[in-house]
Amino acid sequence: MYKYLFSPIRINKIEIKNRIAYPALGLLYSYDRKLNDRYVEFYKARARGGVGMLTIGPVGVDFIGSGVLTLGIDSDDVVDDFQKLTQYIKAEGARPWIQLFHAGGYSHPLMINGQQPIAPSAVYCNYSKTTPREMSLEDIEATQDSFAKAAIRAQLAGFDGIEIIASAGYLITQFLSPIKNKRSDMYGGCFENRIRFPWELIRKVRNSIGPDFPLTIRMAGNDFVPGSNTDMETPEIAKIYESAGVDAINVTGGWHETRVPQLPMDVPRSAFSFLALNIKKAVSIPVMASNRIADPDTAEAIIRNGYADMVNLGRVLIADPEWPQKAFEGRKDEIRPCVACSQGCTDQIFKGQPVFCVGNPSSGFETQRKIKKTNEPKRVLVIGAGAAGLEAAVTASMIGHDVELYDRDSDIGGQLWIAGAPPHKRELLEFIRYYRAMIRKYGIKLHLNVDVDMNLIKKQHPDHIILAEGAKPLLPPIPGRDDPCVLSAWKVLKENPPLGNNVAVIGGGAVGLETALFIAAKGTISPEVLFFLFAHDAENVDRLRELMFYGTSSVTVFEMLSQIGKDVGKSTRWVLLDYLKKYGVDIVADTKVTSIENGSVHVNQNGQSDSIRFDHVVLAAGSLSANELLPQVVSLNIPYSVVGDCIKPGKINDAIHGGFLAAMNI
Ligand SMILES: Cc1cc2nc3c(=O)[nH]c(=O)nc-3n(C[C@H](O)[C@H](O)[C@H](O)COP(=O)(O)O)c2cc1C
Repeated sequence: MYKYLFSPIRINKIEIKNRIAYPALGLLYSYDRKLNDRYVEFYKARARGGVGMLTIGPVGVDFIGSGVLTLGIDSDDVVDDFQKLTQYIKAEGARPWIQLFHAGGYSHPLMINGQQPIAPSAVYCNYSKTTPREMSLEDIEATQDSFAKAAIRAQLAGFDGIEIIASAGYLITQFLSPIKNKRSDMYGGCFENRIRFPWELIRKVRNSIGPDFPLTIRMAGNDFVPGSNTDMETPEIAKIYESAGVDAINVTGGWHETRVPQLPMDVPRSAFSFLALNIKKAVSIPVMASNRIADPDTAEAIIRNGYADMVNLGRVLIADPEWPQKAFEGRKDEIRPCVACSQGCTDQIFKGQPVFCVGNPSSGFETQRKIKKTNEPKRVLVIGAGAAGLEAAVTASMIGHDVELYDRDSDIGGQLWIAGAPPHKRELLEFIRYYRAMIRKYGIKLHLNVDVDMNLIKKQHPDHIILAEGAKPLLPPIPGRDDPCVLSAWKVLKENPPLGNNVAVIGGGAVGLETALFIAAKGTISPEVLFFLFAHDAENVDRLRELMFYGTSSVTVFEMLSQIGKDVGKSTRWVLLDYLKKYGVDIVADTKVTSIENGSVHVNQNGQSDSIRFDHVVLAAGSLSANELLPQVVSLNIPYSVVGDCIKPGKINDAIHGGFLAAMNI
């Protein structure tokens, strides 16, 4: 299977067994800049899963460029710990790489004990919300030397290769960028001066590690920041990196400060591989593609079609460390999906908290959450085949229990269908693909279209019951909520009923906003039609934009609070708000809906009453636990667990992790 993906590749003198790389990805598993068991077990699991190149990183070359939450390799005493880790990785047949990191002006003062970060120039940085200090010539030399010394330590620690970070808006990109580098000395101004810092740095590292040791660099294929480098300039930068002595180039998308989403679910799979190809055309060394390369078919196509020589699988290997092995064995349906929700990874980083995975409860908890086969299999009845029930059923089966899974619907998935309905949320349906494969693999007895009642439970008389009945929409006590024009957001997302030209959505939380997008997107042109019209110059760009975003209904969202989308994570909230603006959704905050009457919505805003007419009114006021069976199950004297929304409406990770833990505790 996937013969291109699983063919070996050489970087400098080193052979890598396949084209799959795990890139550097901050995990925040220690608070002292050092490796610990949690890190080691996390990386071991990825090495065991079949990845070819495994990058440990980010690893700071000094304190001011990385801070307390990032691993460091700025002193000799850490070499032993890294050496143990590289030995484990090599023993699994993977090549350990290290990313040498310096954030420059992206360093957050809180993370560097209140110091002022350093950067090429004192330009305010929106990412760290601070103005860095301009680096002196001594700072420049000292920082380059720190990279060179760190590289020698990495070599001593047994790494097979070193990657220098020159992407995402960090120090090296700051030197390269006219908007961050305002220097008037030999390191600023013209292109030749701006590239002097990375050129010297690469030369120093290369001289310290010798000619035969693999050295790679990670660069932005396009900064995607107005006034900064674009994919017109980056091939020139790549050529200079090659001539300075790097052996391969790892190409990502843009900076952290870009307004072009880089990580969320709306980024199409392989969206930025064109940037890798752009670099590949300019150099003769291997090039790696990155971002949202989620499935083996996409990864194989990137290599086969010559976009890049290797692929980075970042979050997908957090979600499923065995992705390479499963792909190799032709078991792609069994791969636990990364749906790019960003909730367990990017949102955690923004909070300074350890990374976990919404869809994989063991990720980051490799030691505590190991599935062990039981010697005492039990008969387990799982009621509800939404995310919580599915995860509970699959985990219980993996442990060796005999599982019967029931749902009253005609298919598994529960609320996943609703969550996956709005625009750009389809990736969530990947969970259903995965659980279907697991049900098949473990022979879970699935009973659909069955309303479980006490008779059925008594007849089955299981050893353990897992209640995962889910939730139902909460209908707020607004007079007129039974008006024929009123629908629940769930009904709209699940059944897609015809709606009028003017629709109100009541509730500006995540569900309300995504339902608003779902409605606003009805009647807009599809990506294929957009392509067709664009390719043939059938419409001008402004008209195409209008056709993309203006469909059959205009939508108004009413929210009682002053802020909308409060329950949406930091890394995706801005993307959602941006789409609402693009789709022309009207947001009316600080406004209470007092009643609904024949399509008229009566509102109160700052003590002022008003009334607005709509064709349909959609209620998105949250949900309520559905736990009808609980009181009766309690009386049965059979051990039971309650999981997911059935306990309390929560997020998808509450459902999946809760289901997993309940099964582990049977
Ligand atoms: C939580 C998180 C932390 C990251 N930290 C780094 C980093 O320190 N260095 C780096 O080069 N890339 C970092 N990245 C970017 C990833 O390496 C990768 O390019 C990105 O996640 C896109 O690839 P994916 O869609 O396969 O995850 C990080 C990404 C995430 C989600």
